[in-house]
Amino acid sequence: MEINKIYNEDCLITMQKIENIDAIITSPPYNTSRKGSSLDNACANIRYDEFDDCKTDEEYIAWTIDIFKSYDKVLKPNGVILYNLSYSSENTHLMWLVVAEIMKQTNFIVADNIIWKKPSTSPNSCSPNKLTRIIEYVFVFCRKNEIGTFEMNKEQSSLRKTGQIAYKNYFNFIEAPNNDGSNDIHKATFSSILIRKLLRLYVKKDAIVYDSFMGTGTTAIACIEEKINYIGSEISKRYVEYSNKRIELAQMQTKLF
Ligand SMILES: C[S@@+](CC[C@H](N)C(=O)[O-])C[C@H]1O[C@@H](n2cnc3c(N)ncnc32)[C@H](O)[C@@H]1O
Repeated sequence: MEINKIYNEDCLITMQKIENIDAIITSPPYNTSRKGSSLDNACANIRYDEFDDCKTDEEYIAWTIDIFKSYDKVLKPNGVILYNLSYSSENTHLMWLVVAEIMKQTNFIVADNIIWKKPSTSPNSCSPNKLTRIIEYVFVFCRKNEIGTFEMNKEQSSLRKTGQIAYKNYFNFIEAPNNDGSNDIHKATFSSILIRKLLRLYVKKDAIVYDSFMGTGTTAIACIEEKINYIGSEISKRYVEYSNKRIELAQMQTKLF
C-alpha cells in the first residue's frame, strides 16, 4: 500500500488495506447539522460534499463504533488515536454520548483530553444561554490494556532517590490557530500548527500517521512539515484534489528550506 497518499474512498475501505499504523490523528464530521436531539429532524445546513452531517444519534454512534473497530485492526500495539471533536450549542450532548459508547463498545479508553484553545470564534453567538465556544477537544484514546504503556515522547526531568522517574511537564492545553486560513470549499478544517504540536507529543520520526477524515489535507501538511509519513482517506473527490494541490506546494516549500 502506497504511503504519503490520500485515498479517495470511505475510510472503512482504506482500513481493510492498511496495517501497522503508529498513530491516528483525525477530526470526524461532528454531526452538528442536526438541530437538537434525535427526536428533532431539522437540519441546520449541509456541511460536506459527500457526508450526511445530520444523522440520528443512534446512526452517528453506530457509524463511529464501526470506525473505531477498524482502528483497532490497523493501529500498532501502544499506538494512540487523537480524535478532535466538538459540539454545537444546539446539539450539546452527542460528543459525550459518542465518547462513552466508544469506551463501552470498543477496546479503547480515553487516556487524556487535550483542550485546543483557538484565538477567535465567530463574532456573534446566537444562543441566549450557552457560552461562546472558543475551545475544542482532542480525545487521546489508547487500548484499555495499554493505558500504562501507550507511546508518548516525554522527556525525563529527574530520577528520585526512591528510583521514581519524574518527567517534564506537558500540559493538556494547546493554543493553535482556528485553521490554516479560509477556503471556499470546506468550512470544518483544523490547523496544521495544532497537528504539528500533537505529532511532536505523540509520534516518532519514522512513524506512519493515518487520518481517516483528511478533508483539505491538513494532517498531511503537518506530517510533511515534520517529515513524518502519512496515509489519508477522504470520501470527497473535490477535497482530495484540493489537498493534493496543498501537498504539492508544501513539498516544494520543504525542499526549498
Ligand atoms: C471535519 S472534516 C475534516 C477536516 C480536516 N481535518 C481538515 O483540516 O481539512 C471531516 C471530513 O470527513 C470526510 N468524510 C466523512 N465520512 C467519511 C468516510 N466514511 N471516509 C472518509 N472521509 C469521510 C468529510 O468529507 C470531511 O471532509
